[in-house]
Amino acid sequence: MKDDIKKSILKNVSYGYSLLRFGGFAAQGFLLPLIDQISTGKKREAPVNFPEHLKAALPKIQNLLKKDSDNIAQGFYPIDVLFPESPINHSFRLPKIVTDAFRSAKRRDSKSAHEFDAEATDFTKNLPEYYTRNFHYQTSGYLGETSAELYEHQVEILFSGAANAMRRLLIPQLKIHLQNSDGEGLHFLEIASGTGAMTKFLALAFPKAQITCVDLSSFYLNKAQKRLNQFKRIDYVQGAAEKLNFKDQTFDVVVSCFLFHELPFNIRQDVINEGQRLLKPMGFYGMIDSLQKNDDEDFQWALDRFPIDFHEPFYKNYIDHPMESLFEELGLKNIQSEVGFLSKAVSGVRV
Ligand SMILES: C[S@@+](CC[C@H](N)C(=O)[O-])C[C@H]1O[C@@H](n2cnc3c(N)ncnc32)[C@H](O)[C@@H]1O
Repeated sequence: MKDDIKKSILKNVSYGYSLLRFGGFAAQGFLLPLIDQISTGKKREAPVNFPEHLKAALPKIQNLLKKDSDNIAQGFYPIDVLFPESPINHSFRLPKIVTDAFRSAKRRDSKSAHEFDAEATDFTKNLPEYYTRNFHYQTSGYLGETSAELYEHQVEILFSGAANAMRRLLIPQLKIHLQNSDGEGLHFLEIASGTGAMTKFLALAFPKAQITCVDLSSFYLNKAQKRLNQFKRIDYVQGAAEKLNFKDQTFDVVVSCFLFHELPFNIRQDVINEGQRLLKPMGFYGMIDSLQKNDDEDFQWALDRFPIDFHEPFYKNYIDHPMESLFEELGLKNIQSEVGFLSKAVSGVRV
């Protein structure tokens, strides 16, 4: 009985906090169309039936946040995952976010998707062509310190504060696969770990796991290393997820978050094959990414709109090729899939 009360308190506190957070980021998001208009002198057309779409989206975001709170109450991950960043850091970043939104709006208007400053240009020579672009029209793409500083905040604005809850959607599948392990003796590989948003949740949910983070951006890896310096069991490697220098069967788990929609189809296949090479038998392969066609009819408009508002050249192909089928075709077994708001968590097991 005491346990039930504890769970119920945990669930309600988590949910209440997440709703407040949602309100804060959604309010910031309403500024963006205005910035766009001031910056370009043009009014961005809202999607057809936008108010109806928003009405349908609200319960879905609530469901995701409720599910996330329930996962905390069930013990899949600790409430520490909700621990907020310092309000001072958050507020000091806001003027930079606004300034950067002006620059991105101009880039969007002129469809400039290959604009890099000197700091980034040095790196672009050694990186794949599909990658060296201003994804989302963001400044320096993934190749700059400012980009690394603003990225997570910008993503939370885009998803009205639901991005982190979406990132955590994969953890219950992983916990169940690992029979509720704390990660002792296990080695995880997170590919495309970016600034370490999901890495932190993995480190908290599996307090004894060794975690290796891989990303093509050394700027993002540096940022991850700084913000996660309390975890001494994480290491950081710059590299491409489709061709890594680790030996066969090094890892127990390979995961990624928001990677596959930014890759051409053949690279998506290569990344999954490389992950399976690196996994031990019965290892867990999982990803979180955008919904795809037919996952949720209510969001088809958002899937159609995303590559118009943001530079996402491979997104259309991504939504047309279900990740569940690709996992299966490439040999993964026990495929699981769970949808949450605009994302889904898909996993499989390497046999
Ligand atoms: C949309 S961000 C997601 C970052 C992070 N996982 C998150 O949840 O915020 C995509 C990330 O993938 C990285 N990336 C893209 N292609 C990659 C590749 N082939 N190998 C490794 N990292 C890649 C980018 O540098 C960037 O950090």
